[in-house]
Amino acid sequence: MKLSVIGTGYVGLTTGVCFSEIGHTVICVDNDKTKIALLKKNKVPIYEPGLEEILRKNVKNKRLSFSTNIKEAVKKSDVIFISVGTPPREDGSADLSYIENVASEIAKNMDGYKLIVDKSTVPVETGEKVELTIKRNLKKNIPSDVASNPEFLREGSAVYDTFNPDRVVIGVSSKKAEDILREIYKPLKTKILVTDIKSAEIIKHASNSFLATKISFINAVANICERCGADVEKVAEGMGLDKRIGSAFLNAGIGFGGFCFPKDLEAFLWISEKLGYQFDLLKNVREINEYQKHIFIKKIEDALWIIKGKTIGILGLAFKPNTDDMRFAPSIDIIKTLQKEGARIKAFDPKATEKAKEVLKNVVYCKNPYEVAKDADCLAILTEWDEIKSIDLKKIKKLLKHPIIIDGRNIFEPKEVEKLGFIYKGIGR
Ligand code: UDX
Repeated sequence: MKLSVIGTGYVGLTTGVCFSEIGHTVICVDNDKTKIALLKKNKVPIYEPGLEEILRKNVKNKRLSFSTNIKEAVKKSDVIFISVGTPPREDGSADLSYIENVASEIAKNMDGYKLIVDKSTVPVETGEKVELTIKRNLKKNIPSDVASNPEFLREGSAVYDTFNPDRVVIGVSSKKAEDILREIYKPLKTKILVTDIKSAEIIKHASNSFLATKISFINAVANICERCGADVEKVAEGMGLDKRIGSAFLNAGIGFGGFCFPKDLEAFLWISEKLGYQFDLLKNVREINEYQKHIFIKKIEDALWIIKGKTIGILGLAFKPNTDDMRFAPSIDIIKTLQKEGARIKAFDPKATEKAKEVLKNVVYCKNPYEVAKDADCLAILTEWDEIKSIDLKKIKKLLKHPIIIDGRNIFEPKEVEKLGFIYKGIGR
């Protein structure tokens, strides 16, 4: 099929590239000229395992191209996916102006039937607004359909997730739109759930909010475990063995970050309130998440006593492993608070250093964990990268001023680290 994907962020670019890999002809469009120029040179502006290889392959076999020209892309495509940003506004609602812009651009340039599919995460009822925008901007009476096709890929495993989704959700209002989307996803051989547009929109917000709730729930349980001497890792294992609960997203830590959970939680809260329902549970989820960072800083304080003048070594800056994304990373608040209290910060991240430099100033960025440990008063682990999980603890101990590790991701077994002579504090154990 001939497809266009408007917006080349994490979701748009991965979707476009992967659609070309499964046999479609895809134009990825963005109004950011620098980004498109980079993509035209076969360079991926984000770190996402496997993406660049598939991109190169499909550019070469002419199934994938990049453009800043939305007009041409609309004309050449049967289906247009909207995958532009929906950033949070100050009141928590999603800024949908990019969606409106793209929808009107599509309408102005339509020359025949098009299926317009929203892939961006949007509040319920956006589909209706997109339909209206298209009708208002059409030059003549051309038929079209609008559909919702929320994306569930995770950063860091975006390519894998796109090829192996648990489900594909399509929200449609016509059989024609359903058939086209089924055809597009056919090569994936996955479960396709067909719903109305509003339900599809809610599935995305509800899924992300539910996963965020799972994380805050286990973080709250971790705080109980700590107070009574239980081990949250064992508790999570025991809970997760119940198939109704499942073991995923039960890792206690410093709280969730990234550009999806915090933003989608806020947006879901906002739309619930707008619809006249107080979804207070989600407010608690947010509070627990914020509190978790405070608890982590308190652990560092307990270990060092006075923060002022101390050197704190940070391992991991990205909001999760295998990504260079720093948006809403818990490391930002944690480091800024420690700096405010007078700490000197040294830090290492395998991929996120360049992006971290834009948001975290006065940090000594190091090339490896050992450079961080040298003469630091303690080590604080913020992201569970493999490169950090596999550090040589004996070597680290010799380099640190004091053998203290505060582990915000529970990557080590307390007894083993303590046996090596460390003072070790994890989360909920
Ligand atoms: C999430 C959703 O998983 C994905 O379906 C959606 O499309 C986009 O939002 P992503 O933000 O890439 O994906 O990362 P995810 O792996 O879900 O992790 C989000 C945050 O939760 C990270 O900060 C991570 O460290 C944290 N997390 C995750 C925990 O603290 N504990 C867990 O058990 C799982």
